[in-house]
Amino acid sequence: MIRNVQTIIPGIATSDGAGVKLRRSLGGQQQVRLDPFLMLDEFSSNDPNDYVAGFPAHPHRGFETVTYMLEGHMLHEDHLGNQGHLKTGGVQWMTAGRGIIHSEMPQQVSGAMRGFQLWINLPAKEKMKAPGYQDIQVEDIPTVNLSHGGMLKIIAGSYDDSGKVIKGPIASITTEPLFLDVHLPSGGVFEYAISAAHNAFLYVYEGELAVGEPLKMVPKQAAVVLSKGDRLWVKAGAAGAQFIILSALPLHEPIVQYGPFVMNTRAEIEQAIEDYQNNRFAIL
Ligand code: FE2
Repeated sequence: MIRNVQTIIPGIATSDGAGVKLRRSLGGQQQVRLDPFLMLDEFSSNDPNDYVAGFPAHPHRGFETVTYMLEGHMLHEDHLGNQGHLKTGGVQWMTAGRGIIHSEMPQQVSGAMRGFQLWINLPAKEKMKAPGYQDIQVEDIPTVNLSHGGMLKIIAGSYDDSGKVIKGPIASITTEPLFLDVHLPSGGVFEYAISAAHNAFLYVYEGELAVGEPLKMVPKQAAVVLSKGDRLWVKAGAAGAQFIILSALPLHEPIVQYGPFVMNTRAEIEQAIEDYQNNRFAIL
C-alpha cells in the first residue's frame, strides 16, 4: 500500500538558543508530534546575525538529539568533557539519556549555516541510560546513485539497493530509525519500501516534490506526515527536489515534556528539574 500525505505540519519561523533563527515543524506545539519523533528544526541562513549567538549551555534528559549539518561548522561541548566538530555533511547523534548539559556554537562568522536538528524519544526503560554520542563525518555516510537519476545518503538504518543492503552509520537504536537524505533531478521518481510498522514523514528543503498516489504536491519547509502503508512513491517537480525521510517504530508511551526534558510522568519531570537545579546531572 502506498503511503499518502496524511498531515502537513508547516515549519513556523521561531528562534531558540541565544537567538538562532529556525523553522520548527514537528514539536512547534507539544501535541504536534509523530511518535517517536518529538521535534524537527531546520536552520538555514546566509546571514551570521541569524546564527552566531548559537546554543549556549543547556540541559537535556530522556531523549536523543540528531544534528545533520548541510552546510557550516559548529562546535559541540558538554559537561562531561566531550567535544566534537559538526561540519558540512556530518551528523551528531546524541543520546542525552539521564542528562547532558551541552553547548552548540557556530565556528564561523560568515557564510551559510544550514541543517536540521531532530529530537527522537527514548523508550521509558532507556530514558535514564548513560549519555552517549555517535559523531559521524561526511565520509562515513554512504551515498547511493539512484537508477532513475539522483542520489541518496543513508544516515540511519539501512537501504536496500536492488537487493544489496547498505547500512548507514547509525545503528543499535531501539526505535530502528531510518534517516535518508534524497536528491532527485527534474522529474525524478523515487519509490522505496518503508516498514509498515514505522511512523514516517518527509521534509522538502529544496525544489518541488509530489507524494503518493495520486501524486500530491507538498509544500517546502513543512513536515509531511505519511499515512500507513509499506511503500513511498514520490516525484520531483521541474526544479528537482531535496528532502529528508524519517521513519521509526512508535513507542506508544505517555509523554510529559518540560522544555528540554522529555519523560513519561510529571514526577519524573519534577525529578529532572530538581536534579538539574542541584547540579546532579554531573554525578548521576
Ligand atoms: Fe541541545
